[in-house]
Formats: sequence, C-alpha cells, structure tokens
Amino acid sequence: MTIRALTSIEALREAEPAITGKRSILSTLQRSLGSLEPSVRRDAGAELQDARRVIEEALEARRGELANAARSQALAADRLELGDVVVQNVRCPVDAGHPSLIASTQRHLEDVFVAMGFRVSEGPEVESDWYNFEALNIPPAHPARGLWDTFYVELGEPETVVLRTHTSPTQIHLMESAVRTNSLPVHAVMPGRCYRRDTPDARHLATFHQIEGLVVDRGITFADLAGVIETFTQAFFGPDISSRLRPGFFPFTEPSAEFEITCTICHGEGCRTCSQTGWIELGGCGMLDPAVLAAVGIDAEVWSGFAFGFGIDRCAQMRHQISDMRALIENDVRFLRQFS
Ligand code: PHE
Repeated sequence: MTIRALTSIEALREAEPAITGKRSILSTLQRSLGSLEPSVRRDAGAELQDARRVIEEALEARRGELANAARSQALAADRLELGDVVVQNVRCPVDAGHPSLIASTQRHLEDVFVAMGFRVSEGPEVESDWYNFEALNIPPAHPARGLWDTFYVELGEPETVVLRTHTSPTQIHLMESAVRTNSLPVHAVMPGRCYRRDTPDARHLATFHQIEGLVVDRGITFADLAGVIETFTQAFFGPDISSRLRPGFFPFTEPSAEFEITCTICHGEGCRTCSQTGWIELGGCGMLDPAVLAAVGIDAEVWSGFAFGFGIDRCAQMRHQISDMRALIENDVRFLRQFS
C-alpha cells in the first residue's frame, strides 16, 4: 500500500496506526533494536529514525493535500449556479406608500388655480394674534373671535401666539410683502393646515386644511369673485356640481358670503351629510374690507379685491363622496389604499 492510495482524510487516519503506530512494523523494528549487536545497533537505529521521519513527512504532506482537496470540494458544492435559486412571490414587506388624499387634493386644487392665473404661496401655522385676528379687523374681545376659538400660547407681553384658525392671516403676509416690494397686483392661493377648538363630526376636524384665495387689483368687483368661484367649482367637481353664494359675515370682507356647492353625496336631494339641505358649505368669501387694506397700507381708493377661503378636507370629502370626514384621519389602510 502506498500513501498516495489513501484518498481521504478518514482513510489516512485509519491507516496511520499500522504505518507509524505502536504496533506498526516500524515501531516493532525500533523496539527490537535492543537485541542487535551494539556494533550495528547505532546505524540501524539512525536509519529507522530517518525512515520514520520520511514516512511521517509523507503522511503530513498527504494530509495537507487531502485537506485542500476536501476544502475545494466543499466550496464547489456551495457555489450557486445561475438558475439554482428561484425566488417566488416576492412581496415587499413594507407597502410603498403614496401621498395622502389631503396632500393630493391640495395639489389638485393648486393646479386648478394655477391654470386660472393664480400663484401659490404659504404662510406659518403659528401666528401672532395680530395676523390671525387684529389685522383681519377682529379686535380683542370682538364676538367674532368665538367663531375661531383656538389654542392660545401666552409668550408674555406683547406677544400672544395662536395656532392659526384659518389661512386668512397669510393674506396679510402676502399684502405686506407686496407693499414692501411694490409688487401689486396680487393673485394668489395659499393652502395650509389650520387648527380650531372644534369637536370632530362628519364635516369637521379640529386640525384641518384650507386654501385661501386673494386678488388685489384695480377695478375688481363681486362679479369677478362669483365668476372665479363658479369656474373653480366646475373645474374641480365637474359640470354636475354648481356653487351658490349666500349672504354671510366675516369681519375682513364686506360684503361677505358663504360659498356652498351641491352636495355630491345626494346630488342635492338631501342626506345626513348635508343635514338634508342638498348643499355643503365649502367656505367663505367676500370683497376685501377697506379696514384690512388700511391695516397693511394699501390705498383702498386705488386698489380693491376679494378673498375666499375653503376647506381642502371638505373638497376631498365632496369629490370622493366620503360621508364622514373623520375617515381622513383614522388611518384605516383599507380606506387609505383606495386613493393610491
Ligand atoms: N377665513 C374664513 C374662515 O375660515 C373664510 C374666509 C376667507 C372668509 C376669506 C372670507 C374671506 O371661516
């Protein structure tokens, strides 16, 4: 038997005792050295010692070769060949997500107004009392403040800040900046989040969204306002839905109107969502009150204009016939997925 004939580490391990172990011929010969004549014993011992070394080296070398071969074999077995792996029914563990219905409605509203020649602007959600109320002709203790009850934060004199109750303060920011940069006229819409101390119901949320509109130009009349509202209504809700303006009151517009559209849930028949009236109030509007123009330093003899403000959430609700607005914030994915 040759060492080469040993083709695995196990075979080598099994053969080893017979080659170099205690009972091997080699060991037996070495043990019998003592019975030799002293004159030959030394040389014989040295030769046997050499033979043992050569054999042990050969075994060690073979062990290395076999270990290498075993390793390459294991690696080859581990290698993935093209087609070895088939992935089936892969589903992303996390849903990819999509803009919320409110965000996409806001974008859609902006598109409609941009097409009508308005630009889009935004204002802060935390306002001072001046922007949210006083500049809008709502002095402290005015009863109209009750309509916009909100969260006041006393920062100490002179500032009281509020979470804005409507997007109308953005009108003031915009007019102030137009005066500062001498860039009248203004045609803008201003979307954003608003807060009120409201109890949520089918048509109200305490945190909601509005889009404000503002036109300051020469020779603007109520007919311009009514025309913009009706054009918008048809463009956004479709030709079956129309708008109506009813006399209303806002301290910052004169005259003022409530802006309503046909209820899209019952198409004007009357239902729970519209409290059986067939109409849904979207927001308010009116001609800019000269007191507001004066507050920002615009000459009411030269400039006139109108403003409107209405609920983005309400628009989403009406466009998609959502009978209860609270669904918008409940985060039920079965509801949300419908608008991806
Ligand atoms: N800011 C008013 C509201 O939130 C709506 C409005 C805007 C009315 C602009 C008139 C002009 O109720």
